[in-house]
Amino acid sequence: MHPVHAPFPATRLRRTRVSPAMRALVRENALEVGDLIWPIFVRAGEGIVEPVPSMPGVMRRSVDKVLEAAAEADALGVGAICVFPYTGLEDRTEDCAGAWDPQNPANRAIAAIKQAYPHIAVMSDVALDTYNINGHDGFVEDGIIVNDRTVEALVKMALSQAEAGADIIGPSDMMDGRIGAIREALEGAGHSSVAILSYAAKYASAFYGPFRDAVGASGALTGDKKTYQMDPANSDEALRLVARDLAEGADMVMVKPGQPYLDICRRVKDQFGAPTFAYQVSGEYSMIKAAAQNGWIDEERVMLESLMAFKRAGCDGILTYFAPAAARILNGG
Ligand code: PBG
Repeated sequence: MHPVHAPFPATRLRRTRVSPAMRALVRENALEVGDLIWPIFVRAGEGIVEPVPSMPGVMRRSVDKVLEAAAEADALGVGAICVFPYTGLEDRTEDCAGAWDPQNPANRAIAAIKQAYPHIAVMSDVALDTYNINGHDGFVEDGIIVNDRTVEALVKMALSQAEAGADIIGPSDMMDGRIGAIREALEGAGHSSVAILSYAAKYASAFYGPFRDAVGASGALTGDKKTYQMDPANSDEALRLVARDLAEGADMVMVKPGQPYLDICRRVKDQFGAPTFAYQVSGEYSMIKAAAQNGWIDEERVMLESLMAFKRAGCDGILTYFAPAAARILNGG
């Protein structure tokens, strides 16, 4: 005899978890190689591939060696590379003129990759920090990071990158008005197909520590970046920044850092439905690496879980130093 009341429990959610096949059927998100953008570090010199001590497995390469990285990306199906410059103190000036030098290592690397692998999308970094004597993303006058004069310099920098062949301009500086100014200048110079991925919601974060080592900025920075990067306490402000940057012509927007700010990723995706990216920054990468090297976590599984979290939070893609390692696994070993 069946009881007249409903069987207990009415809903057994474990039924759709019983086997790999059932789990695959109900899986809501997927991480694909095509979601990954690989940030690489380029420097002056020749024949140099040197490790970044604070980022195990990450290298700085001279321009001639950048093609080895591009070849690796190409073989793995990683379709996008983001180029960051490493500079020494001798490359840093008050007027930051190196930033828009067509022959700076970043621009030469962009050109070299595009020539050898035209189908790889190359992204640039727009900010003055690596060329600035004081390590700030903008010009400093009387201790103040000035906005509008900085934007004029950022426009020159972005144009030099577009001339070098960049497909995606990546302003990471957090000055006001730079997206509109860069968009207008790109259109005026005939670069209407060059996209802008705005670092729209970039927080003043301690998770950038290892990166500042990687680009040679650690010793250089005077003070902090809190007058232009966001307060980690804020969330509504991120939505205002994204709305503003989209209105000014950004094609894609970024939340940075990534994992501590997944709530922001979700709000941005829900509210705007625009292509949304997260930057799994250096500190996030190095924490996983360090714990794995101590045998405290399983590197491969934590890496894939951390990347899937971005997809679940609504991101279309992820900038990650794990890009080649993740691609290798996603490609089946
Ligand atoms: C600077 C810049 C930073 C990062 C990317 N571009 C650091 C900063 O704002 O000081 C950080 C990336 C990372 O930590 O991986 N324009």
